[in-house]
Amino acid sequence: MGRSVASMGLWLLLVPSLFLGWAAVASADRFHDTSSNKTSSSGALFWSTAKEEVDLLRNPQAQEDSTEAVANDDSDGGFSSLEGMLQWAIGHSDPAKLKETSQAVQRLSHSELKQRQIELKELMEKLKMPSDAQLMQIAIADLNNSSLSLEDRQRALRELLVLVEPIDNANDLNKLGGLAVVIEELNHPEPDIRMVAAWILGKASQNNPVAQRQVLELGALSKLMKMVKSSSIEEAIKALYAVSALIRSNLTGQELFYAEAGDIMLQDILSNSSIDIRLRRKAVFLVGDLTECQLENVDKAELPFFSNRFFLKSLVDLMASDDLDLQEKALVAIKNLLQLRTPEPLVFKDFCGLDGALERTRQQLQNLMADEYLKDYAVDVESLRSEVELIFHRKMGKVIRVPT
Ligand SMILES: *[C@@H]1O[C@H](CO)[C@@H](O)[C@H](O)[C@H]1NC(C)=O
Ligand SMILES: *[C@@H]1O[C@H](CO)[C@@H](O)[C@H](O)[C@H]1NC(C)=O
Ligand SMILES: *[C@@H]1O[C@H](CO)[C@@H](O)[C@H](O)[C@H]1NC(C)=O
Ligand SMILES: *[C@@H]1O[C@H](CO)[C@@H](O)[C@H](O)[C@H]1NC(C)=O
Ligand SMILES: *[C@@H]1O[C@H](CO)[C@@H](O)[C@H](O)[C@H]1NC(C)=O
Repeated sequence: MGRSVASMGLWLLLVPSLFLGWAAVASADRFHDTSSNKTSSSGALFWSTAKEEVDLLRNPQAQEDSTEAVANDDSDGGFSSLEGMLQWAIGHSDPAKLKETSQAVQRLSHSELKQRQIELKELMEKLKMPSDAQLMQIAIADLNNSSLSLEDRQRALRELLVLVEPIDNANDLNKLGGLAVVIEELNHPEPDIRMVAAWILGKASQNNPVAQRQVLELGALSKLMKMVKSSSIEEAIKALYAVSALIRSNLTGQELFYAEAGDIMLQDILSNSSIDIRLRRKAVFLVGDLTECQLENVDKAELPFFSNRFFLKSLVDLMASDDLDLQEKALVAIKNLLQLRTPEPLVFKDFCGLDGALERTRQQLQNLMADEYLKDYAVDVESLRSEVELIFHRKMGKVIRVPT
């Protein structure tokens, strides 16, 4: 890290207050770290604000959106490397001092802050700030150094985690040899290291067929699937996130997933209510995604898994969850499954008790609509629920009429 610390130190000395001016505008919410413990705080600044990401999968624009949000509507496109540099620098600064200065900065008016932001940008252009690619190179070289301390390894990974967010950076990662290095970290003895490595791979592959293909070709899927069973729940969650991002809309990836018993893995998670709800949400979301992919590829033979009555029942049972998000994701999956050819309508009716489940969910949602904060969400889920009911009854109607 020698060269990077030296060069970064130079301009940090030059511009601490300007720097923080920009930082406060651009990412004030990230400055919540109150620790005065230098060794443990560097990554924490970014740690807790990272988005719960699977939901982003819904929105192909998400990567751009989040970059923009960070850049605080200053969408001239020049912020991605600024952002990368910023978090690099924060990772190498004294958090006590940062906090003190950022509090001072918070007292400035918005226009003063904007002015500082502009000044800082100009200054950084003059100073020829390192590009994101250079920052990634440094982090990759660090990770590739077996004598790196655990703490520095964690820091390098967290830097990469933020750096791979813009799709161009994610695409550069492999060119720089970064994917292989990050995949190697999946074997690290520390669960926290493995967790961030999985998270990076997920983020890089999310809505990005190029990175998706590269990670699949490097053979990381099977390792990530094993990590989903980790006793560290955070590791399991990020591993499933990465698995999901890797096989989304990619039939080759999905075949590998099923070959590694991905269906059994999902069924184990869906049917076990003691498992952390975050992992269960991700599993149901993935089922929704896989079934949607099947619907879009009508020529592809439908998997026996999709007609498995225990699997179908697990999903129907999830509708009774008091977690609205889980309920919604289960409804999406059931809606897709009802539109496939092979699952038997009578299995939904008799074995799964879909009629009763739909009715109970209806009542539950009616009650939630009285809640000021949940009302809009409950209305959306109810609209989905009634759609499912309609599709189900139509499908049952066909069954009843067929014998004539
Ligand atoms: C700083 O963090 C380390 C590692 O987390 C911990 O062992 C140490 O006690 C902390 N020191 C202070 C002053 O909080
Ligand atoms: C690896 O890291 C150690 C400790 O930080 C450092 O002394 C050494 O120079 C690094 N090696 C390379 C090849 O960068
Ligand atoms: C990692 O280090 C090895 C030597 O230990 C080297 O051959 C390899 O090119 C390095 N990889 C990257 C991505 O820097
Ligand atoms: C899916 O990934 C494979 C690599 O495993 C790649 O060859 C293929 O082009 C990808 N397909 C799509 C649709 O992205
Ligand atoms: C359900 O999950 C819990 C927590 O992960 C685990 O201890 C238990 O063995 C699981 N039960 C079954 C039947 O797999």
